[in-house]
Amino acid sequence: MNRNDFLKIITGATAAIPFLSFGRKNNSSIIEPVSIATWRFGVKTTARAMDLIKEGASALDATEAGVKICEADPNERSVGLGGRPDRDGKVTLDACCMDHLGNIGSVAAVEDIVHVSSLARAVMERTPHVMLVGDGARQFAIEMGFDITNLMVPDSENEWNKWLEKSEYNPHVNVENHDTIGQISLDRKGHLAGFCTTSGMGFKMRGRVGDSPIIGAGLYVDGDIGAATATGHGEEVIRVVGSYRVVAEMARGLSPQIACEEAVRKIHQFFIRRNASMKDTQIGFIAINKKGDVGGFSMRPGFQYAVNKLGKEPQLIDANSLLS
Ligand code: GLY
Repeated sequence: MNRNDFLKIITGATAAIPFLSFGRKNNSSIIEPVSIATWRFGVKTTARAMDLIKEGASALDATEAGVKICEADPNERSVGLGGRPDRDGKVTLDACCMDHLGNIGSVAAVEDIVHVSSLARAVMERTPHVMLVGDGARQFAIEMGFDITNLMVPDSENEWNKWLEKSEYNPHVNVENHDTIGQISLDRKGHLAGFCTTSGMGFKMRGRVGDSPIIGAGLYVDGDIGAATATGHGEEVIRVVGSYRVVAEMARGLSPQIACEEAVRKIHQFFIRRNASMKDTQIGFIAINKKGDVGGFSMRPGFQYAVNKLGKEPQLIDANSLLS
């Protein structure tokens, strides 16, 4: 065999890897239904999703029911009711959803609506569009019969008043100010779906939108491959189209774990390239493949994610991280 033949074989083999691995997965009858979600609050939201999946619910319905628990909880200070306000004292929420068919819906900078995940789903199912923002999204919510609710709870108001004393604009998302719930699930039919919902950075500039409502950044689902979602510093996740990148890495045949690691590495590489400070920046990804294998990885220690598999004990996992 001469050198050219050898190279042809290597190239052919590399190109075939995704097809070989998907073939195996598609032919496999082993689907392990699972729901995973970012942070500790994911323990209760994935439990809810798995209860529903057990009864035969779709990944889309089950995941929505899960994240809605978090949105309705005034003690979760980074999602839904009780989310931290922007620097002008307005709580504005972002969310998106995606199913295994490629249906997508998204809302951003929405005020007065608790269940922005359901509003994103309404955009997906009830409009010819994929994204509504601000007053238009709020107006659509009212038309759809959503309740109007003051999202600012006393604890958030107190925190904001304290922030106003210095009014230092230093937005960052770290372990103490963690944010988004991203939740992705695989149902008994082998269908994937996900939701991502957040109030975004605390005391952010009015109108600032992060990665969470951006399909491909905060969430991405490919029904033939896998799903991924992100948490943390949204600007950095958008920069590398983070969740899409994780799914694309899985499409190359990488495991969900390694795919998440690759996306975090890319963000790190961009920081280095730009010579930008990454002090305190936290980013985390979680992913599921079509078979139900899961993974998660973060920039720095402190990121946790919940994994709930059918018939198994729920787990809260301390993700490995790139930096110590
Ligand atoms: N990851 C949420 C945000 O940056 O808004």
